[in-house]
Amino acid sequence: MRKIPQIAEGIYYLGLNDRRLELFENIWPLPGGIAYNSYLITDEKVTLIDTVDSSNIDEYLSRIKLVLEGKKIDYLVINHMEPDHCSGIETIVRNYPDVKIVGNKKTFQFLEAYYNISRNLHEVKEGDELNIGERTLQFYYAPMVHWPEVMVTYEKKQKVLFSADAFGSFGTLDGGITDEEINTDFYWDEFLRYYSNIVGKYGSQVQKVLKKLNSLDIDMIASAHGPVWKSSENIKKVISLYDKWSNYESDEGVVIVYGTMYGNTQIMAEVVARELAERGIKNIKVYDSSKTHPSFIIRDIFKYKGLIIGSCTYNTELHPSVSSLVEKLRNMGVEKRIYASFGSFTWAGQAAKKLDQFGKDMRWDIVHNEIVEQQGALKDENFNEFAGIAESMAQKLSNS
Ligand code: FEO
Repeated sequence: MRKIPQIAEGIYYLGLNDRRLELFENIWPLPGGIAYNSYLITDEKVTLIDTVDSSNIDEYLSRIKLVLEGKKIDYLVINHMEPDHCSGIETIVRNYPDVKIVGNKKTFQFLEAYYNISRNLHEVKEGDELNIGERTLQFYYAPMVHWPEVMVTYEKKQKVLFSADAFGSFGTLDGGITDEEINTDFYWDEFLRYYSNIVGKYGSQVQKVLKKLNSLDIDMIASAHGPVWKSSENIKKVISLYDKWSNYESDEGVVIVYGTMYGNTQIMAEVVARELAERGIKNIKVYDSSKTHPSFIIRDIFKYKGLIIGSCTYNTELHPSVSSLVEKLRNMGVEKRIYASFGSFTWAGQAAKKLDQFGKDMRWDIVHNEIVEQQGALKDENFNEFAGIAESMAQKLSNS
């Protein structure tokens, strides 16, 4: 008889792995896939916490049926209405037409907008409780972590926080579900990539939710993606990383990103990187913005304090790949970076000025006053200008 795993007595894990999808939200690469997590609590009132992406909905439904052996689902709690979690709702409602859907006012607006479902609703407000038998669920709003309707659900008896996207990670769950069953080394970079790409724009809102969580005694964090955090060490770690990143705090190190057509801007970036290394900076990541997807570059920009962007001038603008990255960073409102920039051109320099203005717009700490730009290839006599970027960056980092 097939077994459905439990993360705690009476709490079944129903998540699905997706190794086929190339891009999450049709934007962010998934080289290690993704898990859509959903949980079923078998108490007097059977309660489903979120659903999954509908791509493999038959498998999901068959797991539910296997656990319930003919019983009905009484409640479906919707913590988040993004379709990677809620596109299974229609199937649940079709198969369990009496299920009461638990959400907040905004949840129900989105539920109607997406699926035209507006009956059997049970609205909850901040701090409300729902008794389901031996257990009681408590609901806390978590707006903009990552959409406005998001809430988290706290199960008081076993002290489980069902946290929606918060504390989630890219990457499938390859057998192990809780951190205690997994070598978690793989997940930490993907945990940051998920935070920075998906939740990173909403630092102040994350801070508000963390303050609410302070008052809860949490023995397990069951997120909507990635491992279930069960070890007290990892629960402390993921909360403290969220606190750090949502305050835009970061580690000593520098990301250098360049956009180039024929390699001259790359040479300038290499010079700056080498000069930083000679000044003792050990964490240096250099990226060609045409080669590496912004998802990974943004992850490292959240990780490290220093950021240096270089671009050739292309049709009087930034290189398109740099332009795309810059607009993403602007949209995310990344704060507290130490910044430098440089540019190159052949007949009319624009990139360096635009990158300098970008740093000013972001209110970052800009390490040099002069615009650094080079016509054509890097000339020996201009070497010091580029070395100067590294010198000022290293000094600012050591003083920060
Ligand atoms: Fe995993 Fe915002 O959805």
